[in-house]
Amino acid sequence: IKKIGVLTSGGDSPGMNAAIRAAVRAGFYYNLEMYGIYRGYEGMILNDIKKLDSKNITHVLERGGTFLKSARSEEFRTPEGRKKAYDNLRSHGIDALVVIGGDGSLTGAHLFYKEFGIPAIGLPGTIDNDLSGTDSTIGFDTACNTAIQAIDKIRDTATSHDRLFFVEVMGRDAGFIAINAGIGSAAAAILIPEKKMPIEDLVEKLKIRTKAKKSSNIVIVAEGGKSGGAAEIAEKVKKHLPYYDIKVTILGHLQRGGAPSSFDRLLASKLGVAAIEGLLQGKYDVMAGLINNRVVFTPIKKAIVDDKTVDDDDFRVAKILST
Ligand code: F6P
Repeated sequence: IKKIGVLTSGGDSPGMNAAIRAAVRAGFYYNLEMYGIYRGYEGMILNDIKKLDSKNITHVLERGGTFLKSARSEEFRTPEGRKKAYDNLRSHGIDALVVIGGDGSLTGAHLFYKEFGIPAIGLPGTIDNDLSGTDSTIGFDTACNTAIQAIDKIRDTATSHDRLFFVEVMGRDAGFIAINAGIGSAAAAILIPEKKMPIEDLVEKLKIRTKAKKSSNIVIVAEGGKSGGAAEIAEKVKKHLPYYDIKVTILGHLQRGGAPSSFDRLLASKLGVAAIEGLLQGKYDVMAGLINNRVVFTPIKKAIVDDKTVDDDDFRVAKILST
């Protein structure tokens, strides 16, 4: 391996820049040529590929977003699109890839390896934390911190007005951000896709808390919940608690931005170096993750399978603390 291409794809996450920088720096350390593939797989198809030098990665570690930009590519889903992308890679002589993104992005890397034999290593870059083979994905910690800071602010106004707030957090189909931000902000209840909570139970809980004269109630709702988003749940609850002043806040994309936390900087840096060293050791079609603070390489096919779920113990703790 002499020339490695790096790309970010799918939803951006804080720490992606730190991961790119670490991979590129490690590449230089091992005397490799490093290429930036802009706008993910879309840029690979459009030949938006440039050789990187150390100036490209100066002062990016501390910045949110991804300077390589990101996109979700429909064309890459087709064999013709992938062939175009492969031809462009070869025209630059790129012989290996580091792909930073979520499950869709890693699936792309897996397919590309299978079809063209291009050695590829994935790094888990998503705020959702929904990849197996790593305790935490790059960006998850920052997103939880951002959500908690926002909820703390909502708490101030909720307390001043004795209000009930429903706050919706991101996470796609997973409840990791919700459970983490909910425990960290003393939520009255946390609704996640992994555990069903009937509306009647939620209403009962809120009634008990009202009797206990709690001055504010904040319910965290994961966006992927089966009973609907925060607005729908609030609507249903209002029918049972008409006397309550209910408000809804959807945190949305603010959870994706901002400077990465110290944890995400360290995680991204370790995994960026691991990606290059892994490729040089012949570890292909795998995702580098961190488990118990040790780098672990997991086959991409295994990492993208949805078998990582919110820890039951976290759910138990949340329940105890919200009574
Ligand atoms: O996967 C990251 C994520 O932010 C999810 O939490 C969310 O469901 C989705 O991306 C939003 O995607 P988009 O930015 O394309 O609307």
